Amino acid sequence: MCGIVGHTGPLTASDRSLTVLLDGLSRLEYRGYDSAGVALVTADGVSVTKAAGKLEHLRAELDAAPPAPATAGIGHTRWATHGGPSTVNAHPHRAGRLAVVHNGIIENFRPLRAEVEAAGRTLLSSTDTEVAAHVLDLDYARRLEAAGAGADPAVVLVESMRAVAARLEGSFALLAVTDLAPGTIVAARRSSPLVIGLGDGESFLGSDVAAFVSATRRAAEVDDDQVVLLRGGEVTVWDAEGTVVEPRTWEVTWDASAAVKGGYETFMDKEIHEQPVAVADTLRGRVDERGEIQLDEMRIDPAVLRSVDKIIVIACGTAAYAGHVAKYAIEHWCRVPVEVELAHEFRYRDPVVSEKTLTVAISQSGETMDTIQAVRHAREQGSKVLAIVNTYGSTLAREADAVLYTHAGPEVAVASTKAFLAQITACYLLGLYLAQLRGNKWPDEVADYLAHLAQMPAKIQDLLDGQEERVRALGAELADKTSFLFLGRHVGYPVALEGALKLKELAYVHAEGFAAGELKHGPIALVEEGLPVFVIVPTPRRPLLHDKVVSNIQEVRARGARTIVIAEEGDLTVEPFADDVIRVPRTPTLMWPLLTVVPLQVFAAALARAKGLDIDQPRNLAKSVTVE
Ligand code: F6R
Repeated sequence: MCGIVGHTGPLTASDRSLTVLLDGLSRLEYRGYDSAGVALVTADGVSVTKAAGKLEHLRAELDAAPPAPATAGIGHTRWATHGGPSTVNAHPHRAGRLAVVHNGIIENFRPLRAEVEAAGRTLLSSTDTEVAAHVLDLDYARRLEAAGAGADPAVVLVESMRAVAARLEGSFALLAVTDLAPGTIVAARRSSPLVIGLGDGESFLGSDVAAFVSATRRAAEVDDDQVVLLRGGEVTVWDAEGTVVEPRTWEVTWDASAAVKGGYETFMDKEIHEQPVAVADTLRGRVDERGEIQLDEMRIDPAVLRSVDKIIVIACGTAAYAGHVAKYAIEHWCRVPVEVELAHEFRYRDPVVSEKTLTVAISQSGETMDTIQAVRHAREQGSKVLAIVNTYGSTLAREADAVLYTHAGPEVAVASTKAFLAQITACYLLGLYLAQLRGNKWPDEVADYLAHLAQMPAKIQDLLDGQEERVRALGAELADKTSFLFLGRHVGYPVALEGALKLKELAYVHAEGFAAGELKHGPIALVEEGLPVFVIVPTPRRPLLHDKVVSNIQEVRARGARTIVIAEEGDLTVEPFADDVIRVPRTPTLMWPLLTVVPLQVFAAALARAKGLDIDQPRNLAKSVTVE
């Protein structure tokens, strides 16, 4: 995730650049807080200050050794992806005459790393950013030499930035400063956010407008593969072909606190909308050019993974439901039994665990004490532990034998949304990786599933674009209801559980999720006139499964329930039995949870909003449960 800020302006005796950077970083801290740093272009050269931990640590460093006034500066607050949270991994990274900050993931950093090392560069950190910084500086040095003494170093840096951006694969918002071009920032972006702030005689860059909204409300867009030059108040934007383009500008109407939430009313709304990116970022860089999954973090010996005869997934709450979804996929792909265990139950029974058991612990925070204790117990029994975690360097990540990070970025709202989708995505990568390793699936089958996964971000976006407003209206309409049921089969079952959990947490109403087949074994007694029942219907291309669920809709409807049906686009069979239909893009069954849970999240938030409740911080809950 990470937050980026940049400022260029006239050289005054004041520390305007530093003030702007620190103010911007404090507003961007919600994007990451593993470390922070700034690079300032002063009369004495480029001064870089950075510190691990929260922004206050950086402030203390700067107070102890204040830099000289600057004409340009770049700053960064980090959410670790490549390389743990530490001062050496903190941005900005220096390379030759440059200092660089970056948000995103450079997928081809391995060959680029080999290239810069072959050119004699020594890398100090384990970040992909430092590799990109050296690639840029090597190119810059070559071009400066070729251009000769009369060349404008800022213009040469623009050319280098364009050439290097074209070579980078993955996502990036990359900002560079150099003492050769004081008062200048050169930047480029692809698939990572970057906006320009237009001031009077000064200019700004930010991961979002929150970075500079207290200084200016005039903003300009940067499109993918564009390169930007900021020099004082002068802003120039080029497209990938090197043609100058006029960026679209707008006036920011949000206040500073709304800007931090990206203009959304709540962090949860924002995080729901970040789900396409969370899924894309979790996939990014993990499938190589041959279509094979490469999990660099997988430190467990492949021989051990091949010999695994059971997988136990340990987690709590929403993370456990992600594990429940994963069970269907991993068993199908790998033909290994998967048990899903609530972490707090695991330790207090006598679980069958051996050296041939792979324990997979799923956690957004990596600090859930129940999960940590269960993992310790599993390791004592000789099991290898793989953690699927969102927070770099967290306790679970440190204690596990290997970590597969979800790249959802910080989740601020207490109720989990984007972390859930990222967890399912990471579990699927793990399942396909194991299938590939153990030879359970042919390469083209793995490639086929990966292709479907790769389509999910766009489908989630389509779903939000097409259905969000209707679902919100439904939430407001049903705000006086006190009880809800959620039904699903197969992977729709854990989605039903998650839909019910979201509603309980956010709206404080009775909500229960059931496997639809269980209905007539008891829960159907709850159905009465007007009871809202959500039903997650599988694709009609699985007719056995589909038709059973359609029968379940009829059963509850016949008893007076108000049926709200989540069904695939074009599935008309549900229409006669549905009071409301929420349409979801067509996708294979195993991908279905990544879509169908989204309207349930939107619904829970809408209902809570209609009741005037605190969506980001529901009562009695904490973001990470660090006690047993
Ligand atoms: C629900 C929710 C919780 C967490 C659970 C585990 O919205 O957020 O159920 O999923 O407390 O937390 P982590 O994933 O941090 O271990």
